[in-house]
Amino acid sequence: MEATFKRPVIGVIGGSGVYELEGLSDTRWRKVESPFGDPSDELFFGNLGGVEMVFLPRHGRGHKIPPAAINYRANIDAMKRAGVTEIISVSACGSFEEQLSPGTFVIVDQFIDRTIDRKKSFFGTGLVAHVSLAHPVCSRMGDILEDAAKNEGIKVHRGGTYLAMEGPQFSSLAESELYRSWGCQVIGMTNMPEAKLAREAEICYATVAMVTDYDCWHPDHDNVDVSAIITVLLQNSENARRLVRSVAPDLSKRTHFCSAGCHNALDNALITSVDA
Ligand code: ADE
Repeated sequence: MEATFKRPVIGVIGGSGVYELEGLSDTRWRKVESPFGDPSDELFFGNLGGVEMVFLPRHGRGHKIPPAAINYRANIDAMKRAGVTEIISVSACGSFEEQLSPGTFVIVDQFIDRTIDRKKSFFGTGLVAHVSLAHPVCSRMGDILEDAAKNEGIKVHRGGTYLAMEGPQFSSLAESELYRSWGCQVIGMTNMPEAKLAREAEICYATVAMVTDYDCWHPDHDNVDVSAIITVLLQNSENARRLVRSVAPDLSKRTHFCSAGCHNALDNALITSVDA
């Protein structure tokens, strides 16, 4: 079946507060039902100078849901049902490189998924599909995010591999060293299976990983703890909001399907015949 072009609706999955954008009008919280269960919270709808936007606090308002208990399928499905065509994922991360200091925004382009106890696909027995994850994030969105961050004077790093760990405990020193030896740049607990599911849902997805700490490998820095993460996140929340506000109009200018192919991810992925 020929897909029809849908005008861009910009989704943001992030911490509580990222939806408190200056200039956002017609705002309302609305429950979106999903057959996959309950999303982390209601979705927050708004309009930013003509751009339709939908926000979802990843851990729920008040940060009540730990990374492994997030219903990632319901979250992505709810965004899809709300008409979202591109998702900006904003999250905290630890850094594995000296120059990626706290406060840096990393526009990640690869993932290593070490999560073990999460539902990772919309497909399965009865409807089998294998989407490509060779390039798991939308490079078109990455370009727009990088330019916007530079224009806003935010310290940004384009590219990098995000190690997705299960948590909730932070890594041991041996694990941290192992991930560094694998060439990973940052570590976090939330972007997988989010990116996989967005791809299956044919939604463009890009990650802005905000460095909050040096995990536990750096001899001159304290081992990561929650208070350090929160301190840096609070210092950078205004930058995150400025970035989202600045990219939304550019993302909304798209007049065709995504040139990176995100909106056609299922074209060559289904094995089961949908007529069967
Ligand atoms: N989120 C922020 N910092 C992190 C770290 N060091 N490890 C895992 N998740 C994180």
